[in-house]
Amino acid sequence: MDNHSPDVVEFGPRTHALVTGGAGFLGSALVDLLLDRNCSVTVIDDLSNGSLRNLPVGNPRLTIRTFRVGSPAFNAAVHDEVGLADAVFHLASPIGVQLAHTERFAVTSGILESGCAIVEACRLHRRPLLYTSSSEVYGSGRDRPITESDPVVTDLRPRWGYAAAKAAVEHLIAGLFFDFGIPAWIVRPFNMAGPRQRSATGLVLPVFVNSALRGEPLVVHDDGEQRRAFLHVTDAAEGLLLVMQCRSLRGRPVNLGGSEAVQIGNLARMVVEATNTNAPIVMKSSNAVYGEKFAVTHDRVPDTSLLSTMTGWRPLRSTRQTIADCIEHMRTERVMA
Ligand SMILES: NC(=O)c1ccc[n+]([C@@H]2O[C@H](COP(=O)([O-])OP(=O)(O)OC[C@H]3O[C@@H](n4cnc5c(N)ncnc54)[C@H](O)[C@@H]3O)[C@@H](O)[C@H]2O)c1
Repeated sequence: MDNHSPDVVEFGPRTHALVTGGAGFLGSALVDLLLDRNCSVTVIDDLSNGSLRNLPVGNPRLTIRTFRVGSPAFNAAVHDEVGLADAVFHLASPIGVQLAHTERFAVTSGILESGCAIVEACRLHRRPLLYTSSSEVYGSGRDRPITESDPVVTDLRPRWGYAAAKAAVEHLIAGLFFDFGIPAWIVRPFNMAGPRQRSATGLVLPVFVNSALRGEPLVVHDDGEQRRAFLHVTDAAEGLLLVMQCRSLRGRPVNLGGSEAVQIGNLARMVVEATNTNAPIVMKSSNAVYGEKFAVTHDRVPDTSLLSTMTGWRPLRSTRQTIADCIEHMRTERVMA
């Protein structure tokens, strides 16, 4: 295989992968997996939400570059790194509903600028690219599992800037494939969870675990009946590799998410039980937390049959295991802090 113009990517000792956002939660799990497959890896991360502690610093097959993708000052460096890579994973992005809601401009422009920089470099160097979009593009949710043919829905409420920017970059990725013939994949992750996810991002499971470990109230929004399906980060990283090895998935969106739907109120109870604490659970309306302009999301559960059918992927770790791994990681962090 000419590793520099492949239809699909094989991951082995001759593969050099570039992972933007590789010091983050999902990115670092992906780096672990790539190193396990004996690939060499370069990470670009501005450490805005990632940490070098997430990476095996000193591993001779790992190079770490700390700068911001999308900043004009580093466009040449991005081009150089993309030119050296056999496969590019673009995960770098501001994240979290909380940030999207409060810092719409920075979040939207951050996604667009980094997306444009990576897509342009992949176009010029003709490098295969996998992009992590988000289930946020489906908008407020559905009362049934969401498939890739469900419409992308956004409006001008602040929260949806993140989704609209992700959706715009999806078009650039599809254009790479359909207009320029460059292998490109779009993954729409739903709720991922597990070790290394930070509670500061406001994502529900680490927030609950953090509160429970401190003996503080777990704040459940609205009626607590909204459902999500949590996917263990290791299952998610494995899914990304399988997607990039599948020809038929090029140029189209692919859902990536868990298979067990859980009501958020029940998730809070599971966390209290698993941490073995007496932390109270309190209910608050999300509008009281975020303000009246907040767009509330009801059920958001993925249909992942496209990914399973095309690649054989399925999640191997249960929600309970995901919660347990999240707790163990956060307990260890607290001991080391
Ligand atoms: N966590 C989830 O449940 C979830 C759900 C849907 C989509 N996603 C997407 O998956 C990807 C990974 O998310 P995550 O949960 O690992 O988040 P994360 O914040 O842990 O990882 C993102 C990393 O990107 C870095 N970063 C941000 N902007 C950057 C830039 N311009 N240049 C260089 N580095 C930059 C951050 O420092 C961070 O380390 C993101 O694209 C996110 O939008 C995540």
